Amino acid sequence: MMPLQGKCILITGASRGIGRQTAITLASAGADLVLTARQTDSLQQVVHEISNSYGTRVLHFAYDITDESKTKETFRQIKKEFGRLDGLVNNAGILESRLLGMIDEHTMQTTMQVNLVASIRHIQYAARLMKPQRSGSIVNFSSIMGVHGNEGQVLYGASKAGIIGATRSAAKELAPYQIRVNAIAPGFINTDMTQSLSDEKYKERLNSIQMGRIGEPVDIANLVWFLCSDLSTYITGQIIGVDGGMII
Ligand code: NAI
Repeated sequence: MMPLQGKCILITGASRGIGRQTAITLASAGADLVLTARQTDSLQQVVHEISNSYGTRVLHFAYDITDESKTKETFRQIKKEFGRLDGLVNNAGILESRLLGMIDEHTMQTTMQVNLVASIRHIQYAARLMKPQRSGSIVNFSSIMGVHGNEGQVLYGASKAGIIGATRSAAKELAPYQIRVNAIAPGFINTDMTQSLSDEKYKERLNSIQMGRIGEPVDIANLVWFLCSDLSTYITGQIIGVDGGMII
């Protein structure tokens, strides 16, 4: 695989699951990282793991990604410490499965703010750093639910479909600056998010995967690696499924 030496990449939601594995995978390829999540202690564990194993530079910032001023401050620090940004991985997200009649106003606002609005805001700030460089790769997180929809996923599916619209439009807007914007649409991946499903739902999802196994975070992290590397410099505006042939 292509090395990522000399690249500085920001990953949101890096304390666990796909974000954590992505941090480890990108560090193993030599990238310097900026990791964010809500909890300082779990972020610090990831930072220690990376520093001990790979010795690349890692900064971490604990904040809620919906917090506008903390987001701005994080990008200010990136500019100060690294002077550049080569990749943004908009991974942080939440899943609230609710049938239409059960969606309350708070869940509606939170899901849209975390999954969609915060991602767009991070794209805005990242683009400001990347434009003068005339390079950069932004990787957003959609979902198979955002592409195909499913019962109980009106809200989550809408937020993840919104990511597709944002990805395609940002890709067009930023292409003249050689900044690429793509989205990953994972299927069913083995993380805390999917462990919270009921046994019945879990089995149902597993049975819908043609390859007969749940995906692992590294299956997604390897694609992030490729999209952040110089192997993918002509790929933009794409929504790439990683789902083992899942049918919903
Ligand atoms: P997870 O629940 O294991 O981890 C989510 C991460 O996001 C955590 O680090 C958490 O701290 C962070 N986060 C959540 N809300 C936040 C907030 N308000 N501010 C800051 N950080 C916040 O989730 P997982 O499974 O690793 O998912 C990662 C991404 O992949 C999400 O965008 C999710 O929607 C997407 N995805 C996951 C699938 C799966 O099967 N696990 C399937 C399709 C998409």
